[in-house]
Amino acid sequence: MAARLKVAVLISGRGSNLQALLDACADPAFPVEIALVISNIADAYGLERAKKAGVATQVIPHKGFPSREAFDAALDEAIRASGAELVCLAGFMRLLTKGFSEAWAGRMINIHPSLLPSFKGLHTHQRAIEAGVKLHGCSVHFVTPDLDDGPLIAQAAVPVLPADTEDSLAQRVLACEHQLYPMALRLIAEGRCKIEQGVVKIDGHAGGEQSILSPAG
Ligand code: GRF
Repeated sequence: MAARLKVAVLISGRGSNLQALLDACADPAFPVEIALVISNIADAYGLERAKKAGVATQVIPHKGFPSREAFDAALDEAIRASGAELVCLAGFMRLLTKGFSEAWAGRMINIHPSLLPSFKGLHTHQRAIEAGVKLHGCSVHFVTPDLDDGPLIAQAAVPVLPADTEDSLAQRVLACEHQLYPMALRLIAEGRCKIEQGVVKIDGHAGGEQSILSPAG
């Protein structure tokens, strides 16, 4: 069997997306192995999830560093030491420096709870309700120095229902995130994603299918 792609997952909190990745990687046929989970928050629940799955964890508290550059240098060192070739951000609540983002360009991905480029940043579900959009969702994208701005790999859409609250909409999107993130990670591990002029092309997907992947498809 071909070697599995080693990844590091960066978290700050509950880690439900991390759990989706751990569950996917528990299948020996899944082409990815999680080498390390890093949290900047010592009591992030995601760390427990990683330990339960037998995956190495490391806490790197951002508060212990004099600058963003110094914190990112510590992240970089830990990731490289783990042997990870790809970084997955999964609810990691720190802005990354330009230097770090550029060092991992094309090798770092993020999941964001909106249909980018709409609703970058925080409070995406409330903002989607207030904007009156009828479709909302989540996106997996390559990370670039600008927040929530890199080439899109996969997206999943959900309806916004008239009675939705921020919480009900968040739950519907989160269920999609848990399917979409492993799906996107598999595409990368299989070497099927290429960035051409800022746009991700996916081998094996014909025409328009490549811009939106439904979790069911
Ligand atoms: C998710 O909604 C993800 O899209 C966003 O942060 C949240 C993290 O949730 N980037 P969890 O820690 O994975 O449960």
